[in-house]
Amino acid sequence: MTEIIRINPKKPEDEKIKKAAQILRNGGLVAFPTETVYGLGADALNPMAIKKIFKAKKRPQDNPLILHIAEKEDIFIYTEPDKKNLELIKKLINKFWPGPLTLIIKKKKIVPEEITAGLKNTSIRLPDNIVARALIKKLGSPIAAPSANLSGSPSPTEASHVYNDLAGRIEMILDGGETKIGVESTILDCTKSPFVLLRPGKITAEELEKIVGTIKIHKASQKIKNPPSPGLKYAHYSPKAKLILVEGNVSDVRRKIDELIGKYGARKVGVLNLGNRYNYKNVDTIIYLGENNEAIAKNLFKSFRDFDKKNIDIILVEGIPEKNFGAAIMNRMRKAAKKIIKV
Ligand code: TXA
Ligand code: MG
Repeated sequence: MTEIIRINPKKPEDEKIKKAAQILRNGGLVAFPTETVYGLGADALNPMAIKKIFKAKKRPQDNPLILHIAEKEDIFIYTEPDKKNLELIKKLINKFWPGPLTLIIKKKKIVPEEITAGLKNTSIRLPDNIVARALIKKLGSPIAAPSANLSGSPSPTEASHVYNDLAGRIEMILDGGETKIGVESTILDCTKSPFVLLRPGKITAEELEKIVGTIKIHKASQKIKNPPSPGLKYAHYSPKAKLILVEGNVSDVRRKIDELIGKYGARKVGVLNLGNRYNYKNVDTIIYLGENNEAIAKNLFKSFRDFDKKNIDIILVEGIPEKNFGAAIMNRMRKAAKKIIKV
């Protein structure tokens, strides 16, 4: 049985946090909101509990989890940065924590290998969400958490998404409402010089470079041979429908999508409309995500789930420019896409 508990996202009720922390202390699993997406948490210092996360999500064993902490200083309880990188890491956490930035750093012994899937480095972040931090503090240990979806499906941005994927597989869901950002944290590998951006997010490459100087941007692709982050090689975020991403300038993209609507007319076709509204004709469903990157990101994964609820066969998506936060949105779209068309 999976219990869903509504919790006040601004002032979480102490008895609810206590109950959730007790489940974690007993080795159980609790899904909780963060500012990015919902996480599926276990006590990070309990290897048996961590193993349950992989089972509940059907997650491949070699894909490591993020360690979530509640205080900046705790980073040095669990990680051991290279001396030459220490000052840059301090600058990053002072600027961006709490917030959607995950750092990869050499782990200390105390971090179980179950979290890092045997790697010597761990990922670590301090979420900017009151419920998440209250839960970590009440537990008194960090929380290991991947996104709270079944492996391969879109990350959950509402408690109902977690329930749809994981009901009966986890003990509790803390429902703190919609998540603020909607795509997962930026991941920066701080074991390399220069640092390497592994997953773009709300904290952009441009913002990171202002603090640490030039960084390298990993060309995240699904089919690379030796990905630096195990998660990069797996299929991600996929709706059940076939997602076709069309990239190019706005008018060419819209012309191409109109053409594809004609071509796929016999099937149930949906369109993801971004930027300004455009009235595509002869489609089953149009979902408008909003006019700026913040709105688009917030509604993106939910829209994939909404298309699936309507049994759409084909989703046609308008690509957007990859500047700033647009890079994170396009990264998720490309990973979800079965086909990418450049016009
Ligand atoms: O916003 C987020 O980051 C959310 C919330 C819940 O915090 N979490 C999240 O976790 O997106 P997950 O597991 O869905 O994605 C984490 C990614 C995976 O691709 C994983 O391979 C990579 O981070 N990762 C984790 N630990 C790593 C490590 N030690 N070395 C390299 N990559 C790592
Ligand atoms: Mg995930």
